[in-house]
Amino acid sequence: MTAVLLYGAPAPGLVEVPAGAVQVSPLMPGSQDLAAIADGSVDAATVLAPGGTVERDYVLAQALRVLRPGGSLLAFAPKDKGGGRLRKALEGFGCAVSEDARRHHRFCRAARPAEPRDVDAAIAAGAPRRVPALGAWSQPGVFSWDRLDPGSARLIELLPALKGQGADLGCGVGLLAARVLASPEVTALACVDIDRRAVACAEHNLDDPRATIRWADVRQMDEVGLDFVVMNPPFHDGGTEDRDLGVAFIGAAARMLRKGGVCWLVANRHLPYEAPLAAAFAKAEVRADAGGYKIIEARK
Ligand SMILES: C[S@@+](CC[C@H](N)C(=O)[O-])C[C@H]1O[C@@H](n2cnc3c(N)ncnc32)[C@H](O)[C@@H]1O
Repeated sequence: MTAVLLYGAPAPGLVEVPAGAVQVSPLMPGSQDLAAIADGSVDAATVLAPGGTVERDYVLAQALRVLRPGGSLLAFAPKDKGGGRLRKALEGFGCAVSEDARRHHRFCRAARPAEPRDVDAAIAAGAPRRVPALGAWSQPGVFSWDRLDPGSARLIELLPALKGQGADLGCGVGLLAARVLASPEVTALACVDIDRRAVACAEHNLDDPRATIRWADVRQMDEVGLDFVVMNPPFHDGGTEDRDLGVAFIGAAARMLRKGGVCWLVANRHLPYEAPLAAAFAKAEVRADAGGYKIIEARK
């Protein structure tokens, strides 16, 4: 029996998690997969509930599935990111909830009922599936999970045929990577994302021996000598705007490229990437600027 599970990043000062708790966040490479944990095998679970309704209900339902009857659940979330709706969500599963508020968060405690309601339906609603609008596998909670992001669409449209060995940094479910692999002169493509769910979908979507798909943090990669990098860099970390993350992606791309190697990226117009691009690359040129997005070609 697993003693305690922790879903989501640790929140020291907000919740105390016993030493030895098993980490199950999809955004922490190396942690366990909540969906793979056996029914009724857990004594207690602490869940930082995601903000999206379908994703949140999926995670709460999975937590109730893995808890033993009577096992304790603590679910919490920032007030402005779904915390105010947590109690109702848990009551919908048949839980008797006690709630308190502290430091802009809501905390809901419940014992797992003997027969929680509607758990299977919530798990089915949040599970990976083929999304017809994308023509690809995806899952609620993954970046732009059920529609092609307009920035990625722009980059896909304008990307020239690339050659040699490259990487797609923050590959998501692999839509940009599929476009890269359409070039027969691409010999290898490392597709990397920090989201396990995206990586699992990319494995379905990129059935190509030239693609290797990795669940990893781009900031910790040590590849070098690549011919090209493509990316739609994230600028949110855990739902909060974090421009440093995009800047870290630019630095990582530059480190991974050989001299003369090329990086194609798309960025929201308002993001000030000119200075970090100028610092990391020999040359960076805006190839298109429309619809709120810039497509940039940077050469090392
Ligand atoms: C703007 S999305 C682009 C996704 C995909 N390339 C597309 O075009 O649809 C950025 C992606 O970066 C991933 N990501 C965020 N931080 C990361 C990190 N530190 N390392 C690797 N991937 C990261 C996110 O999970 C997300 O899938």
